[in-house]
Amino acid sequence: MTQANSRKADHPVDSVFLERWSPRAFSPEALPEQDLRTIFEAARWAPSAYNSQPWRFIFARHGTPEFDKILGLLIEFNQSWAKNAPILAILLSKKTFVPPGKTEPVAMHSHSADAGAAWGFLALQATKLGYAVHAMTGFDIPRTAVEFEIPDDYQVELAFVLGRRADKSILPEALQARETPSPRNPQSVYVFEGAFKPE
Ligand SMILES: Cc1cc2nc3c(=O)[nH]c(=O)nc-3n(C[C@H](O)[C@H](O)[C@H](O)COP(=O)(O)O)c2cc1C
Repeated sequence: MTQANSRKADHPVDSVFLERWSPRAFSPEALPEQDLRTIFEAARWAPSAYNSQPWRFIFARHGTPEFDKILGLLIEFNQSWAKNAPILAILLSKKTFVPPGKTEPVAMHSHSADAGAAWGFLALQATKLGYAVHAMTGFDIPRTAVEFEIPDDYQVELAFVLGRRADKSILPEALQARETPSPRNPQSVYVFEGAFKPE
C-alpha cells in the first residue's frame, strides 16, 4: 500500500497525498519566481460552482513591509515559527457572483469550498516541487480585512506559509516534538453509502 514518511494509506493513492503535511520549520531561502508562479497556477485549475473561481490570494515575500504586516496579524504561537518563511499569504474567497445571463450578483453557496479546493491544489503542487505549505486560522481575521481593505463581499479564509523545510532544530523544543506528519481517521468515520450516520 502507498507509504511515505511515517504515513501509510489504507488504499492505493498517489504518494503526493501522504507527502503533503504541515511542518513548522521553514528556511527563509527565497523561491525561484517560476516555482512561485507554478504553485499559484495549480490553484487556477481547481473546479468551482459556475466556474466562478472565487479564490483570491494575497502574498508577501520575507523582508518586505507586507510580510511583516501579515506576520503581525498572526497569533503569537504562529508568529514564532512562521516568521522564518520566505512567503506568507492569505486566502480570500468572493462571496457573490453574477450568474450566466444575469447582471446582478447573487450570494454563492460554495465560495469557501471552492477556495479550499484551490488551496488544496496549490499545496499539492508545492509538495510536488519539494516545498511545504502550512495553513493557519490562528490570526486576527477581522483586523486582516481592515488592514488589507477587503470589501464586504470577500471572506478571509486562512493564512498560510510557503517555503522549503528547514531542520526542526531551529524550532523551540516543544514544537520539535510535533514536527512530524499526522495520522488520519479511517474511511468508516467519513464515508457513508446511502445515508449519513452522525457520531
Ligand atoms: C484551515 C486550517 C487552519 C489551520 N490553522 C493552523 C494554525 O493556526 N496553526 C498551526 O500551527 N496549524 C494550523 N493548521 C494545520 C493543521 O493543524 C494540520 O493541517 C492538521 O493537523 C493536519 O496535519 P497535516 O497538514 O500535517 O497533514 C491549520 C490547517 C488548516 C487546513
